[in-house]
Amino acid sequence: MSVFADYAPWYDLLYRDKDYAAEVDFVEARLCRAGMASGKLLDLGCGTGLHAIEFARRGWDVAGVDLSADMIARAKARAAQAGLKIPFRQGDACEVGAERDCDAVVSLFHVASYQNDHEHLAALFRTAHAALKPGGVFFFDYWYGGAVLAQGVETRVKMIEQPPLRLTRIAQSDHDEPKATVFVNYTLFCEDMDRSTIRRVDETHHMRYWFPFEVEAILRRCGFEPTGSHAWLSDAAPNVKDWGAYTIARKAAKP
Ligand SMILES: C[S@@+](CC[C@H](N)C(=O)[O-])C[C@H]1O[C@@H](n2cnc3c(N)ncnc32)[C@H](O)[C@@H]1O
Repeated sequence: MSVFADYAPWYDLLYRDKDYAAEVDFVEARLCRAGMASGKLLDLGCGTGLHAIEFARRGWDVAGVDLSADMIARAKARAAQAGLKIPFRQGDACEVGAERDCDAVVSLFHVASYQNDHEHLAALFRTAHAALKPGGVFFFDYWYGGAVLAQGVETRVKMIEQPPLRLTRIAQSDHDEPKATVFVNYTLFCEDMDRSTIRRVDETHHMRYWFPFEVEAILRRCGFEPTGSHAWLSDAAPNVKDWGAYTIARKAAKP
């Protein structure tokens, strides 16, 4: 069973408090600072399309790719509902696609941490590289290793109620420190309070935490010039308090 297959119907509800518009404000400001204020943008690991649609609303010419057919189906339905024509396609972002001449490529909400080793991260970077025009900008985020090691992984419970639905998600994690990965075992109880039904979904997400020095070395090998790594939604350096970090890189003008 592919990751996000059973999880997809509940994804947007689980993250309903995530402020996608504010995140796009932030990312767009960094792209703009890097000289890309508009143009063609590819979202790798676009999920249900929430960032991609925000970018499209702001005038970007957007395309999106995601491994999960279920997530892509939701992205397509959402774009159609918003009256936006966004080519969303199901595909592996670790395989170079047909997208070319983009001004910007983004990969948001830990997609890079779903790539569990150097080889897969490099493959993701090569896809971004092929899609960008020379000088184009790549923005992506990931689990920051310093914070994961400092904070440790623990069992977390999240509950969300949107009548008639109630979701309870238990995330129990197993840390494989030698491989710098974490298996997050999600158990989701999806309750319909009107019908008194309850469904259980189990999914394991295998995550790799990264350190900026290794991310930046892989970027260089893939033809990028990294321009900085920071704590998520800030200009500060990655730090132990912030689980998320992002890196910005520019496709080298010459190969
Ligand atoms: C936490 S979700 C983030 C989705 C979306 N970017 C968002 O912010 O809501 C991670 C996404 O990465 C996608 N993903 C992971 N590995 C991928 C790959 N190799 N190719 C394409 N998508 C991938 C998953 O299918 C999932 O939709």
